[in-house]
Amino acid sequence: MTEIDLQKLPGHIAIIMDGNGRWAQKHAMGRIAGHKKGAEAVRLTVRACREIGIKVLTLYAFSTENWLRPSGEVKALMRLLEEYLRSEIQEMLENGIRLTTIGDTEVLKKPMKTILKETIAKTAHNLDMTLNLALNYGGRDEIVGAVQDLLNDIRRGTLAEQDVTKDLFSRYLDTAGLPDPDLLIRTSGEYRISNFLLWQSAYTEFYYTDVLWPDFNRDELFRAITEYQRRERRFGLTSDQIHGGRQE
Ligand code: FPP
Repeated sequence: MTEIDLQKLPGHIAIIMDGNGRWAQKHAMGRIAGHKKGAEAVRLTVRACREIGIKVLTLYAFSTENWLRPSGEVKALMRLLEEYLRSEIQEMLENGIRLTTIGDTEVLKKPMKTILKETIAKTAHNLDMTLNLALNYGGRDEIVGAVQDLLNDIRRGTLAEQDVTKDLFSRYLDTAGLPDPDLLIRTSGEYRISNFLLWQSAYTEFYYTDVLWPDFNRDELFRAITEYQRRERRFGLTSDQIHGGRQE
């Protein structure tokens, strides 16, 4: 088992959970069976994050592009999400986990919206960890939405143009109040950002693995964190600047 340093944990982990369909194919099953096993991997990952003290976990559960999938698959994904929330609420309450979402949830079906609203309200006071689900989320939509809200505030006179800064802009995004991700994991051997957390991932460490999402688990998470801990994050500075060495 890989050793992780609990003093150097990423505060915020974001995951692009990819490969459910390929996992199903590999096991001669239908795509929906892959998503079902994927939901199991979500449970294991949330538990493992909570266990070691990760503060924020953002999961790309449904993108704005996912609506283009066959309608049976879209329905199955929504049903799995609903089931997940119903079955996990107790564990979230017992473990101090708060649920938040990013993305436009207004357009989701009523039962889904109801369970989301209920879970968010019931867990709102939990402080140990935030489970942030990206639902009907797209990074470009999020940025355009933020620009529109910001322009509205300028027009209404509640915001002055000269006060627009990077920090202020961040507060108009769906992730307002959450730290940027330190580590972004993508499974299934794909090397793309796929419209996920475009603004927020400016200095994020990316970790790619060939493991298909349904096979992801505690060990795989720890492997990703170990790799993250080996890297040196410089945020545009030199190594000497980071380590307090001689500067030119
Ligand atoms: C990508 O696999 C995965 C998704 C589009 C959705 C992620 C959903 C889950 C893990 C299930 C439920 C989620 C929660 C939070 C309980 P893919 O279908 O694109 O795989 P492929 O690229 O191999 O076809």
